[in-house]
Amino acid sequence: MSNSIFRKDGTAQGVAKQRLIESLAKPNKRIIYDPYADKFVIGASIIKLMGHKFSVWLGDKIVPGMHEHLISRTRFIDDLIEESTLNDIEQYVILGAGYDSRAHRLKLPSKLKIFEVDQLEVQERKLSIISDKTPNMENVTYVSVDFNHQSLSEQLLDAGFDRNKASIYTLEGVSQYIEKEALKSTLKELAKLNPNSNSKIFISYVNRLFKEDPKACFGMGYSKPEKAIKFITDGAANVGEPWISFYSAREIKDLLFQNNFTLTEDKTLADLNSKYFTPVGRTIPENHIFKLEHFIVAESRV
Ligand SMILES: C[S@@+](CC[C@H](N)C(=O)[O-])C[C@H]1O[C@@H](n2cnc3c(N)ncnc32)[C@H](O)[C@@H]1O
Repeated sequence: MSNSIFRKDGTAQGVAKQRLIESLAKPNKRIIYDPYADKFVIGASIIKLMGHKFSVWLGDKIVPGMHEHLISRTRFIDDLIEESTLNDIEQYVILGAGYDSRAHRLKLPSKLKIFEVDQLEVQERKLSIISDKTPNMENVTYVSVDFNHQSLSEQLLDAGFDRNKASIYTLEGVSQYIEKEALKSTLKELAKLNPNSNSKIFISYVNRLFKEDPKACFGMGYSKPEKAIKFITDGAANVGEPWISFYSAREIKDLLFQNNFTLTEDKTLADLNSKYFTPVGRTIPENHIFKLEHFIVAESRV
């Protein structure tokens, strides 16, 4: 365990913090709204005092585009979940859920069973904060798993996961923290969990160029990518959750294919700019757009 005050949830708080900041924007300007994020973030009252504009400006001084990157990732998954669950999907497994509040803030069908998977310590803190009366709490089951050391399928089945129901899985901002072997075995287990039902998966992964070629990874117009990389790398390591795994597009495609999934979408912040930010008058300037993380969707081949 890390010696930091964050006790394994530093990065989960980091993402929740960006959702809190975004939720402070005016309703006609924001990309997502998370009314629960403030409960999990240490120092939330200071952020609320600073407000949306100032907090985003301050973040941009350190890693330009990071706020937009994280909230567009969340919005992309929100859209995917709302759309997929309108149809045949009956189970949603949030892998590395952290302080994700999708179960409570999205409009989801009441038949949808949600399984939140994360490390025990993070779930204990979440459960100690979130009230039993939070909307849709009755449809959420907490399943504690350490991807590096435990079997996901065993724990999910014990928690009531139904092998015969079409399912969707999301792994948002997690693959960089776990060993490559753990991602591989997780996908292998998912493929075997419900082999006869349709399933979909979202994964975000960090491009291996992050380590090998910062300029190419961040995009040509981005200023000082090395500085951004150092800040991200040091920040994650300082809260005891270093980034350890990076992938090429080919590696991910092969990994999915070997486990019976076919890639259907592959987006970066550059693709989501016109989709989410331009319509609300917040087009991200070219020199703030980076491509370090990919947001991919894959479907099972049954
Ligand atoms: C950056 S946070 C993302 C949280 C959430 N998906 C979100 O976007 O708000 C990374 C999450 O991965 C979880 N995680 C990291 N390593 C893990 C492991 N070995 N087993 C299970 N969860 C892990 C952390 O506890 C944390 O909640």
